[in-house]
Amino acid sequence: MVHKVKAVVVREKNAPVSLETILVPDPGPGEALVDILTCGVCHTDLHYKLGGIGDEFPYLLGHEATGVVSSVGEGVTEVAPGDRVILNWRAVCGQCRACAKGQPQYCFNTANATQKMTLEDGTELSPALGIGAFAEKTLVAAGQCTKVDEDADPAAVGLLGCGVMAGIGAAINTGGVKRGESVAVIGCGGVGIAAIAGAKLAGATTIIAVDIDDNKIEMARSLGATHGVNSRTADPVEAIRELTGGNGADVVIEAVGRPETYKQAFYARDLAGRVVLVGVPTPEMQLELPLLDVFGRGGSLKSSWYGDCLPSRDFPMLVQHYKQGNLDLDAFVSERISIDQVEEAFEKMHEGKVLRSVVEISSVVEIESAATPA
Ligand code: APR
Ligand code: ZN
Ligand code: ZN
Repeated sequence: MVHKVKAVVVREKNAPVSLETILVPDPGPGEALVDILTCGVCHTDLHYKLGGIGDEFPYLLGHEATGVVSSVGEGVTEVAPGDRVILNWRAVCGQCRACAKGQPQYCFNTANATQKMTLEDGTELSPALGIGAFAEKTLVAAGQCTKVDEDADPAAVGLLGCGVMAGIGAAINTGGVKRGESVAVIGCGGVGIAAIAGAKLAGATTIIAVDIDDNKIEMARSLGATHGVNSRTADPVEAIRELTGGNGADVVIEAVGRPETYKQAFYARDLAGRVVLVGVPTPEMQLELPLLDVFGRGGSLKSSWYGDCLPSRDFPMLVQHYKQGNLDLDAFVSERISIDQVEEAFEKMHEGKVLRSVVEISSVVEIESAATPA
């Protein structure tokens, strides 16, 4: 059977998104069909629309989602119909060289659904990050579904599927923040503030939020920052050193993705400290640093891909922390919108007005079901 459902598609570079009827096949071997409950609007969706990620239009957008498994294909054992899941874009293979070395968080061969979702005329869709969840139903690899408790607000916990996990993971996984450490975060959007929440969860005692926008700094304070620095009016390197006994922070997390903020992170950390880059640069950006400083300051310079998360380990654990009141995921949900408001959400994101707009797909309205084409 093929399911006809509504979904948010971008047909060509920089075109406004459109609400389209798409065809979603029943799951084949290793796949799961998921009824989407909520999906956050992430920068990566906007990058797809702007043509910054590839040229495989039309894209089916959305990838930060919670849903309920509606059916599974042959051989699927990880999830079953009725399971509440958060979707991930790291379905580890267990066999690639990263997995073989015991580092599945770097898996180089992650799985997506093998069957294609299409427009009504048969045009194949490219789902964002192999998910495509601004849709009433989507088809993914079963490993992209992580089962979590049902008694948590899906709009809040669904954010663990991408941006919030990237930030928390930058602190707790990549940065390895420990109790009593000092952490500075440069850039306090959804990702940076999540890094602040992660640093707090890990027990950091000095947490410095740096941004050029006072509103973001205020939000960061409410999620765990102990100090705020506006880098428009103060030199952030000096300010971070001052707040850490003249030394610099143990861990500095760059959550903007620009050479100048990376340099600030590099010089604002203590000797032998860690720099974590979680902001995503664009192809033309270049970094120049004295090699002697790279050597002389020691420590480690790391990138954080998706917060180096292992969804099966990290999502259920963070949902527990949310339920216990240790992690305020509700604060990341700036607004709840309907599936036809994604374009407006992109505008708000661009203006820096929201941490996350979350699309709620309350009831699955299947337009009609058609027989599988031969
Ligand atoms: N110095 C400090 N903060 C800055 C600077 C700067 N020079 N330029 C921008 N910022 C701040 C913005 O004010 C904003 O609060 O960085 C924040 C960026 O936040 P968002 O645009 O909301 O982005 P976010 O979703 O947090 O993602 C940040 O991580 O995953 C990547 O692709 C993502 O590169 C992006 C980064
Ligand atoms: Zn692998
Ligand atoms: Zn994302």
